[in-house]
Amino acid sequence: MTNRFYVTTAIDYPNGTPHMGHAYEKIVADAYARWNRLLKNETHYLTGTDENGQKLIESAQAAGKETAAFVDEQVLKFKELISKLEISNTDFIRTTEKRHADVCQDFWTRLQDKGQVYAGKYSGMYCMGCESFYTELQAPDGNCPEHHKPLQKKEEEGYFFKLSEYSDWIIEHLKANPTFVTPRGKYNEILSRLESEPLRDLAISRPNQGWGVEVPGDNNFVMYTWFDALINYYSALSPEQKEFWPADMHVIGKDILWFHAVIWPCMLKALDIPLPKKVYVHGMILAEDGKKMSKSLGNGVDPMDMIAKYPVDSFRYYLLRSISALSDGAFSEKDLIQKHNSELGNDFGNLIMRVVKLSLKAIDPKISGTGVTQELNFDETYSKMKELMEACEHNKALDVLWESVNSINQYVNDKEPWKLKEDPVALTPVIYNCLYGIHATSSLLSAFLPETSKNALVPLSVEVQSFEDIKFGEVEYNLLMPEPLFPKIDK
Ligand code: MSP
Repeated sequence: MTNRFYVTTAIDYPNGTPHMGHAYEKIVADAYARWNRLLKNETHYLTGTDENGQKLIESAQAAGKETAAFVDEQVLKFKELISKLEISNTDFIRTTEKRHADVCQDFWTRLQDKGQVYAGKYSGMYCMGCESFYTELQAPDGNCPEHHKPLQKKEEEGYFFKLSEYSDWIIEHLKANPTFVTPRGKYNEILSRLESEPLRDLAISRPNQGWGVEVPGDNNFVMYTWFDALINYYSALSPEQKEFWPADMHVIGKDILWFHAVIWPCMLKALDIPLPKKVYVHGMILAEDGKKMSKSLGNGVDPMDMIAKYPVDSFRYYLLRSISALSDGAFSEKDLIQKHNSELGNDFGNLIMRVVKLSLKAIDPKISGTGVTQELNFDETYSKMKELMEACEHNKALDVLWESVNSINQYVNDKEPWKLKEDPVALTPVIYNCLYGIHATSSLLSAFLPETSKNALVPLSVEVQSFEDIKFGEVEYNLLMPEPLFPKIDK
């Protein structure tokens, strides 16, 4: 049986330009997608843009453009970012696409047929930035807890989803599936909020201003943008792709956890659609000063600037390795340069350079492993990495991989192959072990740094392979002169 893996990111509001959080989330999800491909799982990776919200209408007005034209333009920036970041998504959904609206309307109709939708009046405090209502408990001072701006009072006729009926069920679901929300701290937060505050029915429509997915049978209304946005994970799958459902992993930031850990599962449960297996909540990228990046503080870093200045894999490596998978992390350009120079340049790039150059000087460039004793073994690295990726701790998986890169460096230092230049019989097995090590670690690295792993293997004349397929002794390496992988960056 083929194992399938379906990973998604949140879909971004394209009202502004893509920021560091958008870049980070896509890189993280990309590592899980690529890792699963390496494990030979059939992998589908969805990302996209959330285009139906009221804030898109307002941003377009502010820019003096038609909403549709404005959104079309903005989306190109998000697509450009994912292409520059080497993101391996297999689909990109825009929620203004017909395929999305059709599924949302069907979803709504089925909920209505099941008696889960009713018409009523809603009154509450609204934040446009979040496109969300807040209760007094959540915003006691009348300010949005995310945007710290005054909430607006909204009173509207509209449709409601009977979310309150699912209070007990969602608590039970969480208790029965303690890794449904990862990491544990976030799981506990959601559970205790559910246990202290019963669910209220959810307003799922907004007055129709000519933008959004129309409510079936009542074009005075469009769907509340969160209601349609969550459905994207399901609507993007064509009938042939439906076998990817349920999603294995929704990758999101903590500010939108409630929607993913509570509202979305309840919407699916109401239609007896299987639930996603995991909501993985990554930390927030903060500015170097530890504060939230913001225009007004002028402490923001543009991901496009970073990839214009540094190799994209140095950027990816820094974000994946240095920012803990479990908590917020401050972005520091200095640390990025430091990682580039020391870990990527010295530990990894120089290892390849010194092993291959030495061999080219001393022995035949064709290096066979026949009869060579295996002295470097990465089976444990692989199994530890598998466990850590399963636990959504990609930074620790990279730590483990780096220990192995350094174990090859240590092996070189211990064996002192430069002293064996005149003795090819003694030198060849040492070199073969190193080449095997570079082959194995570069292949494992391909989940995180796709370009680097490919380039690292060019001087060995081999390609990235699944770890199990790299058989010690069976691969023959044909050495070519290497190019430096990470030329030093002056601080
Ligand atoms: N459109 C909604 C999501 C709908 S999903 C059905 C949304 N969009 S967003 O553009 O505001 O955020 C997109 C993702 O970026 C979210 O997962 C959010 O948590 C994440 N990030 C936004 N700022 C971030 C950081 N500073 N750091 C890391 N990720 C952050 O919410």
